[in-house]
Amino acid sequence: MADIVESREVSALLRELTTAAGREDPYGHYMRLREIGAVVRADDGTLIVTRFAECAAVARDHKLGKMPVELLAHAGLADWAEHPALYGYFTSLLGINPPDHTRLRRLVSSSFTARRVQALRPATERMVDDLIDAMGDSCDFVPAFAFPLPCNVISELLGIPPEDRAQFQHLVSDWSAVLDDITPEVLSKANPAAKAVREYLAALATERRRRPREDLMSALVGHEEAGDRLTEDELLTMAGLLFAAGFETTTNLLSNGLVALLGHPEQLPDMIGDPASAVQELLRYDSPVQNIDRTALEPTTIAGVHFEPGDRIVAYTGSANRDPRRFTDPDRLDLRRPDNASLSFGGGMHYCLGAPMARLEAELAFPRLFERMPGLHLRDGARRRESLTIRGFDVLPVGS
Ligand code: HEM
Repeated sequence: MADIVESREVSALLRELTTAAGREDPYGHYMRLREIGAVVRADDGTLIVTRFAECAAVARDHKLGKMPVELLAHAGLADWAEHPALYGYFTSLLGINPPDHTRLRRLVSSSFTARRVQALRPATERMVDDLIDAMGDSCDFVPAFAFPLPCNVISELLGIPPEDRAQFQHLVSDWSAVLDDITPEVLSKANPAAKAVREYLAALATERRRRPREDLMSALVGHEEAGDRLTEDELLTMAGLLFAAGFETTTNLLSNGLVALLGHPEQLPDMIGDPASAVQELLRYDSPVQNIDRTALEPTTIAGVHFEPGDRIVAYTGSANRDPRRFTDPDRLDLRRPDNASLSFGGGMHYCLGAPMARLEAELAFPRLFERMPGLHLRDGARRRESLTIRGFDVLPVGS
């Protein structure tokens, strides 16, 4: 059996990662953690993996799963079901294990298809152009572009009318704060927001049952497969999840990607030449989601380390993406990198359901931004998000 490394250096590195400096640039700390060992233990007992092979194994191992409901009490969340913000998360795909996960994922996958995503292309192109039109000479890129684009695209997908979208953006933002950190303060805003989102989606579902359209909500309410269908509760949780999981992450892909591109202007022609490969590399280089967590459901072994049921494991996928064991010269942005499949969308059964949609948005947005705003540049005053899990910016001033 291999050793789990516990040391003062590990504790110090993990602590530093949560400081403003660590969040600004976690990659040096990740490098040191990867060198120290395949599996390290944090002060609170959590086991942490930072190398590519081990992170991929954590994502794919079926004996690891989402924290079962009975363990939530140990995490101080015994009353989770009474908080609308937590209920919507822990009962969604992101919070459950097979067989429930398998069933729900099958029901949504057959409606949220690649064809449906591709059908959003013309509307997404229009939204990109409209947002660029409104950007002016200088603005904060986050509220002007990176935030509304994904929100509008998911709204379009689900069938939320344009006039309701702005209000919806803010509600979902307050709600999805629980994906970062669950504190009483976060919950005091997240709970009413989650409740309002659910009520709105319930009214939309009722409307689409009466008069179906071409949107995903109509597909979900009408969908039946092998005699099975989503219950009303599952439907509302699923529709809410598409927002919660989908739009801040994509917002941060757009912001992190813009910063990376503006830092490497010599590579802009490669972005315009092959946006799909470029976006893949931007996702690897500075991922909007830096880690995923699992709990051992059965005994299992990863990197020669034995995991017992109940062990909590965090895989630092943001570090895996910079592992020299997997990528040549990993700290270099190379939009033409040939073998750049990363762990930014996770892996295994929870692999991101919205990956094709996030990719489509970024592939359309970046070439158009640089084509229409050749003088686009960063201005002073950028502020990072206060989170290590969701990496991105709260404020990102730009000029053109
Ligand atoms: C760049 C943007 C995005 C990133 C980096 C991202 C990342 C991720 C990651 C890492 C996971 C796996 C979590 C885990 O294993 O615990 C995940 C799951 C998920 N994502 Fe995304 N995501 C993005 C955009 C989206 C979009 C646009 C949508 C929906 C419209 C979406 C919907 C989901 C859903 C529903 C899941 C749960 C899948 C499951 O558990 O079976 N994501 N995402």
